Amino acid sequence: MASLRSVALKAVSGESWSHIVPRARALIRVRAFSATMSPPSKAVVYDHHGPPDSVTRVIELPPVQVKENDVCVKMLAAPINPSDINRIEGVYPVRPQVPAIGGYEGVGEVHSVGSAVKGLSPGDWVIPSPPSSGTWQTYIVKDQSIWHKVIKDSPIEYAATITVNPLTALRMLEDFITLKSGDSIVQNGATSIVGQCIIQLARYRGIHSINIIRDRAGSDEVKEKLKIFGADEVFTESQLEVKNVKELLANLPEPVLGFNCVGGNAASLVLKFLRHGGTMVTYGGMSKKPITVSTSSFIFKDLSLRGFWLQRWMSADKAKECRSMVDYLLNLAREGKLKYEMELVPFENFHSALDKALGKLGSQPKQVLTF
Ligand SMILES: NC(=O)c1ccc[n+]([C@@H]2O[C@H](COP(=O)([O-])OP(=O)(O)OC[C@H]3O[C@@H](n4cnc5c(N)ncnc54)[C@H](OP(=O)(O)O)[C@@H]3O)[C@@H](O)[C@H]2O)c1
Repeated sequence: MASLRSVALKAVSGESWSHIVPRARALIRVRAFSATMSPPSKAVVYDHHGPPDSVTRVIELPPVQVKENDVCVKMLAAPINPSDINRIEGVYPVRPQVPAIGGYEGVGEVHSVGSAVKGLSPGDWVIPSPPSSGTWQTYIVKDQSIWHKVIKDSPIEYAATITVNPLTALRMLEDFITLKSGDSIVQNGATSIVGQCIIQLARYRGIHSINIIRDRAGSDEVKEKLKIFGADEVFTESQLEVKNVKELLANLPEPVLGFNCVGGNAASLVLKFLRHGGTMVTYGGMSKKPITVSTSSFIFKDLSLRGFWLQRWMSADKAKECRSMVDYLLNLAREGKLKYEMELVPFENFHSALDKALGKLGSQPKQVLTF
């Protein structure tokens, strides 16, 4: 039997409401007597791919049954990440089938549990782990196996954002080169959440970071903030329009590992800093520009180019490991040892948060929806 939510989603996708509404009402009547139901939910849905600001809308979804292994979670907070935008645009390699609900990570409070659920009770805080689609809604009903209990006194904005970006930073520092205290890394996109986490997690291990940011108003202030997080050097791209960028490094060792989430010129700058035999890991493409690599980078510097995708890493049987790493990162955040800039935005203001996340208002902190 079709779930009530799928009935509502069919309506979103263009089926006429005239035959769906009586069907939904009938389902509600039948189920009201036979099973635990979730409250109705408000959700950001899209019924086809395209520009997120034109294809998304907030709709009401009817209650759904909470089956014996299900947990009904009242969402508390969920971020708008670049990959959420790419999923809606239809350019992300793995994306939910449309019509779909937006969002991929977040934190919520258990509202009710099915009769066979063990280890989770109403009031617990949980995150979907590994993350899964559909976090931009007020109530989610999913199997108990997807939920991971987190400590309740965590700041909600950190609990909501702890997986996609901090875990990427942690893995990338571990998985490519064995770094030791005193080594250096170089990265562009240093103002991103991943970038801010890389700076702090590197510093934690005694690893120096050389950071590249976009030219923007207030760049001196941004540099100061990143230095407070532990950045050794922060350069704007235009500051690096010099013959030999390495002369700017003073006493820092030449970096052995570089991270690129921008592409274009910003990627070339990461390559320029790398030492002979160094590796650049690409994990994002914010400028949408390709990476150009000189022939000499390969012949005379023997540089290696690699890529990282958290979703692939997590799908390789890493669910258990992923949860202990998330706990580790959330503990750092609770202790104030891992920080990043965020703006909390009430769910009602979804579209203004989306505009900021889309960059329509210039550089903005990470937008985190609160429900
Ligand atoms: N591969 C993976 O598994 C994985 C996992 C997590 C994240 N990511 C990727 O990592 C990147 C950062 O994600 P995030 O959530 O940490 O970012 P974020 O906090 O949302 O920040 C966005 C970043 O992108 C920069 N930016 C935005 N538009 C740009 C443009 N047109 N040209 C150059 N830079 C631009 C911003 O610079 P300003 O501060 O100057 O505005 C900021 O540094 C994204 O590409 C995301 O898709 C990949």
